[in-house]
Amino acid sequence: MSELIPELRTPVADPGAGYVRTGTPVSRVDGRDKVTGAARYTAEFLTEDLLHGVVVNSTIARGRIVAIDTSAALAQAGVVDVMTYQNRPKMRSFDLFYKDMTAPGGAPFRPLYDEQIVYNGQPVALVVAETFEAARHAAALVRIEYEAQPHETGLLSFLDRPHAPKGIKAGFSPPPDEKGHAEQAWQAAECRIDGQYYSGVEHHNPMELFASTVIRGEDGHLTIYDKTQSSQNSRWYVSRVFGLSKSRVTVRNPYVGGAFGSGLRPQYQLPLAVMAALKLKRSVRVVLSRQQMFTFGHRPETWQRIKLAANRDGQLQAIWHEARAETSRFEDYVEVVVNWSGQLYTCDNIRLGYQLVDLDQFTPMDMRAPGAAHGVHALEVAMDELSYEIGIDPLALRLKNYAESNPMDDLPYSTKELRACYAQGAERFGWDQRPLAPRSRKEGSEWVGWGMATGIWDAMQMFARASAVLHADGRLVVSSAATDIGTGTYTVMATIAAEELGLPLEQVAFQLGDSTLPVAPIEGGSSHVATVGSAVQGACEKLKKRLYKLAKHLDRSPFPHARFADVEFVEGTIRLRRDHSCAISLTELLRLEDKASVEEKYLLLPNVLKQKKYVRAVHSAVFCEVRVDEEFGTVRVTRVVSAVAAGRIINTKTAASQVSGAVVWGISQALHEETYMDHRMGRFMNHNLSEYHVAVNADIHDIDVIFVQEDDRIVSRLGAKGVGEIGIVGVAAAISNAIYHATGKRVRDTPMTPDKVM
Ligand code: MOS
Repeated sequence: MSELIPELRTPVADPGAGYVRTGTPVSRVDGRDKVTGAARYTAEFLTEDLLHGVVVNSTIARGRIVAIDTSAALAQAGVVDVMTYQNRPKMRSFDLFYKDMTAPGGAPFRPLYDEQIVYNGQPVALVVAETFEAARHAAALVRIEYEAQPHETGLLSFLDRPHAPKGIKAGFSPPPDEKGHAEQAWQAAECRIDGQYYSGVEHHNPMELFASTVIRGEDGHLTIYDKTQSSQNSRWYVSRVFGLSKSRVTVRNPYVGGAFGSGLRPQYQLPLAVMAALKLKRSVRVVLSRQQMFTFGHRPETWQRIKLAANRDGQLQAIWHEARAETSRFEDYVEVVVNWSGQLYTCDNIRLGYQLVDLDQFTPMDMRAPGAAHGVHALEVAMDELSYEIGIDPLALRLKNYAESNPMDDLPYSTKELRACYAQGAERFGWDQRPLAPRSRKEGSEWVGWGMATGIWDAMQMFARASAVLHADGRLVVSSAATDIGTGTYTVMATIAAEELGLPLEQVAFQLGDSTLPVAPIEGGSSHVATVGSAVQGACEKLKKRLYKLAKHLDRSPFPHARFADVEFVEGTIRLRRDHSCAISLTELLRLEDKASVEEKYLLLPNVLKQKKYVRAVHSAVFCEVRVDEEFGTVRVTRVVSAVAAGRIINTKTAASQVSGAVVWGISQALHEETYMDHRMGRFMNHNLSEYHVAVNADIHDIDVIFVQEDDRIVSRLGAKGVGEIGIVGVAAAISNAIYHATGKRVRDTPMTPDKVM
């Protein structure tokens, strides 16, 4: 207990990492810290006299609390407090400003606000004790009496009362207006399909549990280690909700053990831990259990209907795509589900619709490729169905309708190398060996099938600041309040900076994960490299110009007449490009200038006027092989090739890890993951990793990732787009299509569990 908070530890590459270049495979600079345990996660920060909070959750889905008996809990040794809506501190800001930067439209749920119960699993008390064990035991002794009211859960039972989304969320655009006349075109066409698709609820299961450790300084300053995809979002939220000035709260997230969207919004352990720290004037940590991680947002249950029509030669005549998704009673969670169907294929008649259904459940939340994971799935299964209806190869159907400009509005793409994805993916996979007819190949007890699908995701850029400091000893420290949720941010940013300044990687540190660093956006939407990476590059370029000027104006400058374009930064020196003997080392330069360090800051603002003239997206083509045992309904995904076009790839190693990890999740989504609700209670029942199945090693076979050549200077000055989410899009569709090819059975729902496949 006595180990004090270590200073924020910034990982640096091992000595010998040497000179690295973007566009090559670079090993993680934080790899050693992660495997040796030196990397600290939120619940691992300790301080003297830390209190432990354990949350009590409601057991009804709707109604109100009529009585709370905390006497047995309070009687336990070590228990300090049981906080409920009745005795929490009163705060005007809590009533007025309860919202985070990423909240969808509506009025967010407030933990311990009043006696109302709005969903099953709602936090209703926080037991605070000197030890975690005491708090956990006492939490089981809190007695709460409810008056239950009837609740409504389960999207499919309430599909008939959809409404248009109210309010808007960052990153969401409603479906565009109809192009042409989709229904008439569909009616008139030669080949048509019409299908309904259902996707069950999925819950985020990153390895690291949700936790907040609130460390209270003697002056009342709160240093909060929080599991979040943005330290600055959590800082802003705590400041507003608790009426604390910016200078009184620091939030840190130096390491995040996976999040996948679940850390975009602050989760309820954060306000509860802060509330307890303020009330008790102590340091407090609240860690949620795996079960409790099923009591906040999730990927929404979604129902879709798609009608496609084409001529006999495969030319698309109509795309009609409608989706209905669940949301809570209190917020309208929205995601882009159907718009992709107006972006992928040339078609004169496109109609898209998206509506919500209010239920007595917690608000859904972004999960890797939110919206696309469902919407593109349905479209790509429907395209496969249409290919059989016409009798042409599924890849040929896509190529036949390949969009050279955005079908909805004819805007050009900033870059779009999807054709190369199709070609290179098909070649690597051996797609031309595929027989057209289903049930063509059986090996042993298994039917073998090949399927493919297209993937698409936005290529976003936000705004960010970065600072770059060159120290007299030759170390370069670059900072931005970015996040590394396991994606490789530390490594990628250090690589960009090292290459710019011509320094060995081990001499460069990238600091992130602290709300006091220069402003950075939330790590979400696969935008961090295009955004923070561009800011890092900008700061480094300014620093180079400054160093060049200093060198040029030295008394005995090696290049007194050189322009900036005439010099280069190589191996720790600035030198003339045409005469390498005209050089000065950076350390020597700072020594001569008598400077301990030189710093430059940069603000990256996206060139919105230029960007909005283009559709900016990443694309992929996914090919897979499945082996299906019909007797048991089991599916093995034995081979996947994912060919991705995502702009210039800064680190081909961490990027490939992103895509193969996303393919694993795609397999998991396709075959395993679903949270089952008992609608009598309105409660998710399989809230643990033994009953909520995620893909394990035995489920995963060959995964081959290809990055096709692409360089997009409209999305970012680095030429990079982003790879976090694209890898999952289309995977489940390719699997569904391969199952059809293997067996002749069409499974339109996910997950495709044995009962649906057999
Ligand atoms: Mo991602 S779902 O934007 O973290």
